[in-house]
Amino acid sequence: MSGAGEWLASEKAFYVTTPIYYVNDAPHIGHAYTTTAGDFLTRWHRQRGEKVWYLTGVDEHGTKVQRAADAGGVTPQQWVDRLVEQSWLPVLETVDAANDDFIRTTQSRHVERVQKFWEKVRDNGFVYSDAYEGPYCVGCEEFKFPGDLIEGTGEFEGQMVCPVHGKPAEELREDNWFFKLSAFGDRLIEHYEAHPNAVRPQSAYNEVMAFLRKGLVDISMSRSSVDWGIPLTWDPEQVVYVWFDALLNYATAVGYGSEPGTDEAARYATTWPADVHLVGKDILRFHAVYWPAMLLAADQPMPKQVFAHGWLLVGGEKMSKSKLTGIAPEQIIDHFGSDAFRYYFMRAISFGQDGSFSWEDMTARYTSELANGLGNLASRATAMVGKYRDGVLPEAGPLTAAEDAVVERLAAASVAADRAMDELDFATAIGEVRSVVELVNQYVTEVEPWVLAKDEANAQRLDTVLYTMCEALRGVAVLYNPLMPKAMSSLWQHLGAHEALGELGAQRVSEAGRWGQLPAGAHVTKGYALFPRLPDDAPES
Ligand code: MSP
Repeated sequence: MSGAGEWLASEKAFYVTTPIYYVNDAPHIGHAYTTTAGDFLTRWHRQRGEKVWYLTGVDEHGTKVQRAADAGGVTPQQWVDRLVEQSWLPVLETVDAANDDFIRTTQSRHVERVQKFWEKVRDNGFVYSDAYEGPYCVGCEEFKFPGDLIEGTGEFEGQMVCPVHGKPAEELREDNWFFKLSAFGDRLIEHYEAHPNAVRPQSAYNEVMAFLRKGLVDISMSRSSVDWGIPLTWDPEQVVYVWFDALLNYATAVGYGSEPGTDEAARYATTWPADVHLVGKDILRFHAVYWPAMLLAADQPMPKQVFAHGWLLVGGEKMSKSKLTGIAPEQIIDHFGSDAFRYYFMRAISFGQDGSFSWEDMTARYTSELANGLGNLASRATAMVGKYRDGVLPEAGPLTAAEDAVVERLAAASVAADRAMDELDFATAIGEVRSVVELVNQYVTEVEPWVLAKDEANAQRLDTVLYTMCEALRGVAVLYNPLMPKAMSSLWQHLGAHEALGELGAQRVSEAGRWGQLPAGAHVTKGYALFPRLPDDAPES
């Protein structure tokens, strides 16, 4: 974590968030997917040399968590404490996330600031008391509008069910406090018309605009029949509706509502508004409609972008614990390692679209793209410098067209990857770096350094080939570091780059394509396989 001091500097941080996950149960790979995407994105921006803040955390209040605790025979606080310690914090390590903060909505910093926020909204005239009558889906923790529900099938035939959870919503009748959401529709439409990038991808933008154009109705901001939540200061019998507590984490975690003059207030001033809220497409409306309206109601700036990604599907349906289709991240990572996990999900599924995970597809990509592609290139390059040049990187002689092609591909790939990262087009960014690896592997096959090595007359030519392989790998290591930090840090060491160029994390992605950085004389060592052969005990799907 960064020290508070540097945050007093006025430079705005690039601020990225994941949703905060419900702790009714343990994480599955759908949750790890968003955390991984945010981690890849923020590590990339760090390697651009930007000031970055990456927040993730957990959503601990609400009916869903309360019922899980009741079923487990413990208090909600005991339930969330145990799950956070045993599952949600460890999964960050499992996926190798370098988040700067982790917020829990039961923390006092959050509770107090949520209370302060709603007092402000109430003082601004956007809260009133009324009765709510209608459907509520506990799975979504959402008041449903008539158009939100669909015809049930099977055991729920003849009933209207939630399209995400496939179950009927519960009928609620409560006296609540309402948020005047309807007051903000026109301003949101205007805002999104002027900022078409504020909701991405295009399909998500269109969905939000269609929802806004239908007209907004006011919505309950409190619950009277729920205990597990944050009490309203002006009516402690009621708690803040869980979404209107949870959304605020993005602001409370970075110091919203702190005393002026404190470090926390400085952090808020240099962090808010968020640059990207990463969310699953099922929670788009909350983030692109309710949340900005809340912020407007409290005179706060709106986030710059909400990006809605797709779902990981099982049998064509959203993977979920409640449907018993959840795969725990460690099931995959124990087998493939965290780098391969990160690589696979960012590369195989276009960010913004749904995708399916299969052991077969992951095994195939691991073997061809990582073990045989990048891993093999790294081991060939380091082994050959060891064998032919005693582990000392030689100076390159004159470059031929074959080397020029590598130099140009690396330069072009680093520019194109950087541009793709601006669009959160992770698969394209990765594809660019991969094209360098493929080209160099092809180059090695064509120039046959092992044949050159047989004749001393080719010594300079061999030097050039060895240098080209290692220098291309230097660029690849920099560009892949945000995605696969463990393997790339090992590659960096084996190229002797750490000694020659310093920390890998300090290398700028924008400079990665500049040829000739690894100096001749670098100590190259052959290491263990970057992506080892898979054990035979592949888990069954
Ligand atoms: N607690 C709320 C979010 C509050 S944010 C202010 C919530 N939690 S959740 O645990 O149900 O979901 C968290 C995120 O995980 C959502 O973005 C959701 O889309 C994502 N995913 C849950 N299952 C998923 C898949 N099967 N695939 C991809 N993402 C999925 O909603």
